[in-house]
Amino acid sequence: MTDTKIALVTGANKGIGKEIVRQLLAAGVTAIVGARDPERGAAAAEELGTTSVVLDVTDEASVEAAAKTVEQRYGRLDILMNNAGVALDWGHRPSELSADVVREIYETNVFGVIRVTNAFLPLLRKSARPRIVNTSSSLASLTLHQDTSSHQSKVLLLGYNSSKSALNAVSVSYANDLREEGITVNVFEPGYCSTDLNDHQGRLDPAEGAAVGVAVALAPGEGGTAQFHAEGGFLPW
Ligand SMILES: NC(=O)c1ccc[n+]([C@@H]2O[C@H](COP(=O)([O-])OP(=O)(O)OC[C@H]3O[C@@H](n4cnc5c(N)ncnc54)[C@H](OP(=O)(O)O)[C@@H]3O)[C@@H](O)[C@H]2O)c1
Repeated sequence: MTDTKIALVTGANKGIGKEIVRQLLAAGVTAIVGARDPERGAAAAEELGTTSVVLDVTDEASVEAAAKTVEQRYGRLDILMNNAGVALDWGHRPSELSADVVREIYETNVFGVIRVTNAFLPLLRKSARPRIVNTSSSLASLTLHQDTSSHQSKVLLLGYNSSKSALNAVSVSYANDLREEGITVNVFEPGYCSTDLNDHQGRLDPAEGAAVGVAVALAPGEGGTAQFHAEGGFLPW
């Protein structure tokens, strides 16, 4: 056991997740790269000067094995950042998208988060101040989608958008369940970052998006719970 905070970031071999690990390390946190591909994970960890764990959020055995590894190495987890995500529906209007593609997106963006959260809860319960931070999107916001003048209402990604709305709902459910135990659960919108997920169309550097989530993870004091964070404030559900 160590006094240094222990954090795990899923989908951290590239993009926003990798920058989250970099910033957590810079803040003195022992941050672990979670990656589904062992070589990509190890390469990112080596570049960042930390360790990696193989973790495919869609694979129960892989997630269980990752939890065992973290338990053996550190005995607990202080910060879980569910960051792994996919967008497989670019270029397909909602009315043209098959349920199978939507299911595949949900498998990572929604069920993956539930699977990882459940597997790591026993380790989070051993932390003095456990926090779960999930990477959401402004595209999750039904309030913004309802406003036809909004940018979000023009982004017609049935699978991705609704998976992030579901992720928000899932996160609030966990927050309400775990509130009395002192485990906080929040989501954040990183902003439109240039990553593989959007073929590098985003205008922000992934480090800028990562900083929003890191601020939530390291917020002083109790921090809040069941909150939808964005740069400079909160987003409407
Ligand atoms: N970029 C943006 O503008 C933006 C905006 C709002 C929210 N987000 C969210 O930010 C998060 C990170 O996305 P990003 O933009 O950084 O995209 P990215 O560069 O494509 O990174 C996605 C990460 O998720 C991993 N991943 C995918 N499926 C996985 C699985 N089954 N198990 C474990 N890891 C898996 C990927 O691993 P591989 O390398 O193995 O594929 C990769 O490490 C996502 O949740 C995304 O929805 C992004």
